[in-house]
Amino acid sequence: MPEKIDFNDRMLSLGLARVSEAAALASARLIGRGDEKAADQAAVDAMRKQLNLLDIAGVVVIGEGERDEAPMLYIGEEVGTGKGPAVDIALDPLEGTTLTAKDMPNALAVIAMGPRGSMLHAPDTYMEKLAIGPGFAPGTVTLEMSPAERVAALAKAKGCGPEDITVCVLERPRHEEMIAEIRSTGAAIRLITDGDVAGVMHCAEPEKTGIDMYMGSGGAPEGVLAAAALKCMGGQILGKLLFRNEYERARAHKAGITDLDRIYTRDDMVTADVIFAATGVTDGSLLPGIKREPGWLTAETILMRSKTGSVRRMNYRHPVGK
Ligand code: FBP
Repeated sequence: MPEKIDFNDRMLSLGLARVSEAAALASARLIGRGDEKAADQAAVDAMRKQLNLLDIAGVVVIGEGERDEAPMLYIGEEVGTGKGPAVDIALDPLEGTTLTAKDMPNALAVIAMGPRGSMLHAPDTYMEKLAIGPGFAPGTVTLEMSPAERVAALAKAKGCGPEDITVCVLERPRHEEMIAEIRSTGAAIRLITDGDVAGVMHCAEPEKTGIDMYMGSGGAPEGVLAAAALKCMGGQILGKLLFRNEYERARAHKAGITDLDRIYTRDDMVTADVIFAATGVTDGSLLPGIKREPGWLTAETILMRSKTGSVRRMNYRHPVGK
């Protein structure tokens, strides 16, 4: 009998790095060209091609959308050669399409892989998110707390004042009140225009990024990707799905969600050990973006395994046109 392959296989995890790397490299020529769609398409095509080389029986659970709206890497698409372990895949070939089109910081190509059934099938709705880094007791901050209470609670747990806390928030009109309330505490805010997977990941390395907490609403699929990242890096994320209308509620039902008011912890969103890879597209505080020089493209990838807590940074110099 052939030996059963664990999805956590160390060589397989290296294959995952090549997948995010391929997506980032493909979108490189579209950085700063003002064409979000073309950048996204290039990343999707490359990610799918590379993913299909992996010896996995993969199913996309977080992808480019539902089958009728996304021709590639749609939710439910089977990926890989079919010869390896049964796995769930969560991906965003280009997290920050606008960031890429405008050459702004923190665009990433992102992918996570876990055993079949390990990741929340989040519908394409919004999610209220709250994240902090490692080293804090569960319940240190909660979604039930007001933004000001969260700042006070985290400051207390860190043993500092609110003015020493920096919160990362997506700059959106819907967040204006929250931003005003956070500012009233004396805390600082780092506003980002897009890319809340990176926003949440920043909390896991506060000394490096200067970010202590992430809060606000953004895409639910990105919430699951961020949960996978924090499962590897350490840190907490809480998420609650938000629905604007009946259509969105129906999408959640279709995805198998019965309790629409549930608050998900990191480990509810990602229930088993996962592997996570992200490659920088544009420069950011977590990863440098793709570097272009005559004849070469250079990409940096972070590859992490929650089982071992290993974090590997890989630098790849790619000869153009070979
Ligand atoms: P895209 O890469 O698909 O453009 O998503 C970027 C993003 O900023 C996510 O990181 C975030 O979760 C979501 O969009 C926020 O949605 P909205 O722009 O509707 O506020």
